[in-house]
Amino acid sequence: GENMLWGGRFTGGLDPLMVQYNESLPFDRILFAEDIAGSIAFARANSKNGILTKDEFGQIEKGLKTIEKEWAENKFKVAAGDEDIHTANERRLGEVIGKDVAGKLHTGRSRNEQVATDMRLWLNKRMLEIEEHLEALMMVIASRAEAEIDHIMPGYTHLQRAQPVRWAHWLLSYGSQFSSDLERLRETRKRVNRSPLGFGALAGNPFGIDRDQMAKELGFDSVMPNSMAGVADRDFVVEFLQWGSMLMIHVSRIAEDLILYSTAEFGFVQLADAYSTGSSLMPQKKNPDSLELLRGKSGRAFGHLAGLMMSVKGVPSTYNKDLQESLEPMIDHVKTVSDSIQILTGVTSTLKIFPAKMEKALSPDMLATDLAEYLVRKGVPFRETHHTSGRVVALAEKTGKPMDQLTVKELQGVDARFGEDVKLCFDYQKSVEQRTAKGGCSKSACREQIEVIKKTIDA
Ligand code: ARG
Repeated sequence: GENMLWGGRFTGGLDPLMVQYNESLPFDRILFAEDIAGSIAFARANSKNGILTKDEFGQIEKGLKTIEKEWAENKFKVAAGDEDIHTANERRLGEVIGKDVAGKLHTGRSRNEQVATDMRLWLNKRMLEIEEHLEALMMVIASRAEAEIDHIMPGYTHLQRAQPVRWAHWLLSYGSQFSSDLERLRETRKRVNRSPLGFGALAGNPFGIDRDQMAKELGFDSVMPNSMAGVADRDFVVEFLQWGSMLMIHVSRIAEDLILYSTAEFGFVQLADAYSTGSSLMPQKKNPDSLELLRGKSGRAFGHLAGLMMSVKGVPSTYNKDLQESLEPMIDHVKTVSDSIQILTGVTSTLKIFPAKMEKALSPDMLATDLAEYLVRKGVPFRETHHTSGRVVALAEKTGKPMDQLTVKELQGVDARFGEDVKLCFDYQKSVEQRTAKGGCSKSACREQIEVIKKTIDA
């Protein structure tokens, strides 16, 4: 144990498997820049309260910047005993500037506050990047919806043909879900970007360190209010994973729709080659692997969320090593979510659509609701018109004629209140254009939705 930072009271060595089991450097090295920024801010603050002289601070800052460069250039040499990024950097600082000054850096500080600080700084940056990716996805959806607003396709419930809708309206249905995701992301980031630095191991800093100043230097919005809560807190990771899991529900569902719509049976869309793969056996195959991975990776995201919540739920107050288990889910989730949004953006922007196929998939029975609404406009109660329209559907089935081919006479046989103008019901364009109320599938209502998406992006 003599190489370890905490080795003072230890005599025997660690079980070799325990060394590996305990170490987090293989994954927390990703935090090297944040760890160094945190250390510089901490040293600067300690130079203002008499713990470090100006000269000592200068040496520490310079040494830390050298080490940061080593990491960035992939030249950092990991040594035995470097159990995590914090110990690795401090050990190296001793080598670079000498142990006498390097040994003062950690005054009043604990790795408990360090790791929480590093993770929050890192996650905040990644969330800002993810926010941009999400906005790009929403822009692709908004601009495709605008450009392709004319096309009509079947809208489904229970995967059964339900009512005609605009293709743009379907796109915007996901645009609307992603808008809420964007709002939630911004909301969640507020609780990520708060500083725990200066909390010590659990009880607070005894040298009057200026936490506000450190937080400001590091770009945090504010400081966390309680040291015991601050070192215990992985809620910010849980909340991020909850956020991303909800997002991945939407990603998975749009992927599922598109997989279906890209089958020969539907044929509404075709994926660009850039997002498809072939079969090693069947030469004709073009498989939507991108979409299947989007759907599959949602499972991975939810799994990490469930795993993290289980890891945290029984942990007593303040820091316990269980909390180290929050790093890998956080890192993996960032990658999953960030990559997935970008892949979906690529798929969506390069997708080829086949409006003629969409139109061919429409059938007159999808206008049965419009037929009922026709009678409603003549003053008949909807419950009655629903029944009447149902009888027309049955008649169409019985006679083997599509509903729109029934004569006015045949329709009047079902209900005498059908007039000559009933034929106007059998018009898909008219059907969708009637739905002008906010959020509906008429052109004007779709354009309103596009504006809402753009406003959310700019908010
Ligand atoms: N590698 C540790 C983690 O990620 C840093 C904190 C260690 N603190 C401690 N008291 N052992 O959680």
